[in-house]
Amino acid sequence: MSLAADPNMLAGVAERALAELPKTACRVGLGTGRAAEAFIVRLARAVREGLDVVGVPTSERSDKLARAEGIRLGSLDEGPLDVAFDGADEVDARLRLTKGLGGAMLRERVVAAEASRFVVLVTAEKVVDRLGARSPLPVEVVPFALAPASRRLEQLGERAVLRKKPDGGAPFVTDNGNLVVDLYSGPGGWEDPEALDADVRRVPGVVDTGFFFRMASLVIVGGAEGTRVMRG
Ligand code: A5P
Repeated sequence: MSLAADPNMLAGVAERALAELPKTACRVGLGTGRAAEAFIVRLARAVREGLDVVGVPTSERSDKLARAEGIRLGSLDEGPLDVAFDGADEVDARLRLTKGLGGAMLRERVVAAEASRFVVLVTAEKVVDRLGARSPLPVEVVPFALAPASRRLEQLGERAVLRKKPDGGAPFVTDNGNLVVDLYSGPGGWEDPEALDADVRRVPGVVDTGFFFRMASLVIVGGAEGTRVMRG
């Protein structure tokens, strides 16, 4: 996940996000990362005050937090979702996203796609002119394909780096048992994210990427002056 994340700004974004919930009983996708966690904590408060919610988490980590906070959990087996809330690592003016610095993008995509609305929560430094300007593109790869896939990915960007655990030792392993290769652009970001995404997805062994196009319904941006909303 990315560098700065002011807890007050995240709390403001989480508070604003509550307004996007239906007023009646609802099924809600719970994202992964600091912004999503701020939302889970705020949602739990609303649940304690009487809101009727079933949450569907996008990671083991969010599952654990939501359980600890007392949110009733379900799965996609029981049907689609009213709304999903999640963070992002980058957002551009067209509401295209880079996600996955937390390594949960595959489940995040599945959950977001099942939701009638997808609400994205970020702090202001994540809004970029071009995707790639501040974050690499996370690519989830099955372990068997790591070496050949990394060689092919290297051709598509400036560097392709196997993600390690925070202590820098063993490779980071996703909740799906896969690895993540972070693909870095040259200076200034990606010229054509859609074309890059198509190229990356053609690499054998690639399961998903962190690009989310045409998925966000709105983005809530927290800044020093309060929150604002970006719409597509
Ligand atoms: C998790 O895999 C990611 O997609 C996160 O949603 C993203 O990295 C944003 O995380 P933060 O809110 O912690 O910056």
